[in-house]
Amino acid sequence: MASITCFLFLLASASLAKAQETRSNITLGSSLSPTANSSSWLSPSGLYAFGFYPQGQGYVVGVFLTGIPPRTVIWTANRDDPPVSAGATLLFTKDGRLILRSSQGQETSITSVAESAYSASMLDSGNFVLYRPDGSVLLESFDYPTDTLLPTQRLLAGQQIISSISATNHSTGLFRLKMQHGGNLIRYPVNTLDTAPYSYYTSWTGGTGDNVSLNFDVDGHLFLLNTTGYGDWSVVWWSTDGECDPKGLCGLNGFCVKNDQQATCQCLPGFDFVEPRNRAAGCERNFTAETCKTGDAGASYMIEAVDNTLWEDVSYSVILTNCEAALYNGGNCGKQRLSLRYGRKLVTDPTSALIKGILFLSLSLLTFGFVMMAISLVLICKNNVWTYQRIHNKIEVGLAKDQAPRLFTYAELELVTDSFKEQIGRGAFGTVYKGVIGERMVAVKRLDKRLAEGEREFQTEVEVIGRTHHRNLVRLLGYCVEGTNRLLVYEYMSNGSLASILFKSPKSRPFWEERMEIARDIARGVLYLHEECETQIIHCDIKPQNILMDENRAKISDFGLAKLLNADQTRTFTGIRGTRGYVAPEWHRNQPVTVKADVYRFRIMLLEIICCRRNMELDFPEREAILEEWVCKCFWNGEIGKLTGDEKVDKDELKAAIKVALWCILDDLTLRPTMKRVLLMMEGSAEILMPPIPSSSIFTDYGYV
Ligand SMILES: *[C@@H]1O[C@H](CO)[C@@H](O)[C@H](O)[C@H]1NC(C)=O
Ligand SMILES: *[C@@H]1O[C@H](CO)[C@@H](O)[C@H](O)[C@H]1NC(C)=O
Ligand SMILES: *[C@@H]1O[C@H](CO)[C@@H](O)[C@H](O)[C@H]1NC(C)=O
Ligand SMILES: *[C@@H]1O[C@H](CO)[C@@H](O)[C@H](O)[C@H]1NC(C)=O
Ligand SMILES: *[C@@H]1O[C@H](CO)[C@@H](O)[C@H](O)[C@H]1NC(C)=O
Ligand SMILES: *[C@@H]1O[C@H](CO)[C@@H](O)[C@H](O)[C@H]1NC(C)=O
Repeated sequence: MASITCFLFLLASASLAKAQETRSNITLGSSLSPTANSSSWLSPSGLYAFGFYPQGQGYVVGVFLTGIPPRTVIWTANRDDPPVSAGATLLFTKDGRLILRSSQGQETSITSVAESAYSASMLDSGNFVLYRPDGSVLLESFDYPTDTLLPTQRLLAGQQIISSISATNHSTGLFRLKMQHGGNLIRYPVNTLDTAPYSYYTSWTGGTGDNVSLNFDVDGHLFLLNTTGYGDWSVVWWSTDGECDPKGLCGLNGFCVKNDQQATCQCLPGFDFVEPRNRAAGCERNFTAETCKTGDAGASYMIEAVDNTLWEDVSYSVILTNCEAALYNGGNCGKQRLSLRYGRKLVTDPTSALIKGILFLSLSLLTFGFVMMAISLVLICKNNVWTYQRIHNKIEVGLAKDQAPRLFTYAELELVTDSFKEQIGRGAFGTVYKGVIGERMVAVKRLDKRLAEGEREFQTEVEVIGRTHHRNLVRLLGYCVEGTNRLLVYEYMSNGSLASILFKSPKSRPFWEERMEIARDIARGVLYLHEECETQIIHCDIKPQNILMDENRAKISDFGLAKLLNADQTRTFTGIRGTRGYVAPEWHRNQPVTVKADVYRFRIMLLEIICCRRNMELDFPEREAILEEWVCKCFWNGEIGKLTGDEKVDKDELKAAIKVALWCILDDLTLRPTMKRVLLMMEGSAEILMPPIPSSSIFTDYGYV
C-alpha cells in the first residue's frame, strides 16, 4: 500500500542530532559504486546513509536508514528515472558537481543547481547537505522532500510530498500532501489541480496567512506554524496537543511527564537512564535483582506505586511467581513483565497528593519478585478530591486545555452566565446558556432536574467524559453538582450546530467536499468514543443537532450523557421511540445496546449530510418525504443524481457515500460495519462493496422485496 510516511520512530536519533549536529566530510573527488566496499556515505552516528540502494534489478541513489531491515528509504534522487546497473558510479567531481555516471558513460546530475559545491555531508538528522566554500549551505535534501518528512524537517508553503509506488519502488505514487499557500494542508491525488473538488483531506486552517508551514518536531508532533514575520509565529494546528502523547518518547521503563509545557522523561523507581543525555534510550535497573533460590524464601522486594501513569498493557495471565510489575487501572489489575513502555504521567492535578499513600501495596512473594507498580487510579477516593478542589479553585483558574474538568459552585455559574440570561440551545437533556469565564466564552448546559441522580454517579460520568480528548469532541471544561442542580460547562462552539448550517438556504450551506470532511470528522469522533478512549462511550443520539461547529471543524456534543440516565430513561429521552428507521432494531428487541447502535444512527446523519435535508420532510412529495426510503429507491433504481438536486457532485463519490450509509442500516449486527470500517470506507482506504439488499421489514415497506 503506497502511503505518505512519517517516521516517528526516528526520534531517538533526532534528539541526538538536535543536541549537536556533527558533520561527516565528503570531499571533492569522492565516489561511490553500488558493488564496491563503499556504496554509501554514512552520517557520523551511522544511522543514515547517502548512496546506492537496490531497487528492482538495479540501483538507485538516495538517503536511507541503515540497520533497520527492511531498508527504510527516506529520500530518492531523480525518483522517476530507471534504476542504474551495478557498473554505475556516483561522483562528487573535483569541480563540485554531484553526478551519476551509468556503465555506458551517460551522466545525470543529482542536483538542479549550476553552482558548484565545495563539500558535502550526510547529517545525523537524515539531511544530505552540499556546502559552499564559505561553509554556507548550497543545497539540502530536506528542501526537496520526496515521500517522507523527518523530525526537524519542514514543508513550506507551496511544497508537497508525494507517496511512493510501494515500499520497494520509490517512484512517484498516487497521493500527495501539499502545504498550500493560504494555510491549508491538503491531500490530493497526483496530477490534479490544487482545488477543493480533488482534495480528500483538508486541515481546515485556510485563511491563516501565507507563511504557514508543516513542521515535524523531535518530540514526534506534527504541527502547522504561522510565521507572520521575523521571529513571530503561532501554532495553527497540532496533530496531538499533549506534549506526552507521542508514544515511545521516553524509551523502555521511562515515562513522560509534562513540565511547564515541556515533555521530560523520568525513570521508574529503581531505574536509571541508560544514556543520561539521550533519554529516549530508556532506563535500566540500577541494581541486580537476586535470582530465584529454590527451597529458600529468597529475596523479597517492595512493590512501589507510580501513581497516575498510563502504560502499554500487556498483561499475562499465567500464574508466575515472579511478578515484576502490576498495572492497576480502575479496578483491573494485571501482571506485567519488564520492560514497560509508552509510559506517561496523566496531567497532574491536586488529586495526586491525596492518592499517594492509598495505593501502596507491599507484596512479598514467596520465591522472588520485585518492584514496580504502574497505576492509574482516579476513581478511588474521589470524594476527597472534589472537596479538595472545591476549596482551592478560584473561578478564573483551572480551565487549562488538558486539565480534568473542574468543579464550579452554582453561584459561580450564575455569575458566569449572568443568571442564565442568554439561552443558546435546548436539547433532550436540558437547556444551554452562553457564559463567559475570563476572556473565554463557554456553553453551560443545565440538565433537567428530573434527570438528577446521585452525586457519585454523576461525578463518575463526568470523570469519564472529562477524560476524553479528541479534536472532534466538544470539550467538557467543568461541572456543578449542588442539591438537585446538575450543570456541565463546555467549550463554546462559535458556528452553531451542523443542523443549522446544513438545512439552511442552498447558497450558504457547505460544499460537497466540505460536507464529506465534516462526515469524516464525525466518524473520527465516534470512532474515538467507541475504540480509543479509556472507557468506551456509546453516544446513543448522534444527529446533526448534536454536532457543533467551530471555525474549523465539526465536534460531537452530548456524548456520555446517555449514561447519566438509566437505560429505561435513555429510551424515553431520545424522544424518537417507535419512529421507524431512527432507532436501531436491537433497541426494540430489548437486546443490549452496543456501539453498533451508533453506527445505525450515523447513517441517517450521513444521508442528511449528503442531501442537505432532514430525514423527515412532511412538505415534500410523499415518495420523497422520508429521506432514507427515497435514497433507497433512487439507489436501487440507479437515479442517485436526483438526490443532490442542482449541486454538482461527482457521481462516484456520491455513490460511495450512499453505499457506506446502506451498509450501516443492516439489521444483522455482524454485517453492520464498525465505526472504524465506516471511517476507512469514507477515507477511501477500504473497498466499499455493494451493500446487500436489506431483508428487514423496513425494506419490505419500501416495496422492493
Ligand atoms: C570537515 O571540514 C571542515 C572544514 O571544511 C573542518 O572544519 C572539520 O573539522 C571537518 N570535519 C571532519 C570530521 O573531518
Ligand atoms: C575493499 O575491499 C577489498 C576486498 O574486497 C579490500 O582489499 C580493501 O581493503 C577494501 N578497501 C577498503 C577501503 O576497505
Ligand atoms: C516502479 O514503478 C513504475 C511505475 O509503475 C515502473 O515504471 C517502474 O518500472 C518500477 N520500477 C521498478 C524498479 O520496479
Ligand atoms: C497568520 O498570519 C497572518 C499574517 O501573515 C495573520 O493575518 C493571521 O491572523 C495569522 N493567523 C493565525 C491563526 O495566527
Ligand atoms: C512571509 O515570510 C516572509 C519571509 O519570511 C516575509 O517577508 C513576509 O512578510 C511574510 N508574509 C506575511 C504575510 O507575513
Ligand atoms: C536506585 O535508584 C533509586 C531511586 O530510584 C535510589 O533510591 C537507589 O538508591 C538506587 N540504588 C542504587 C544501587 O543506585
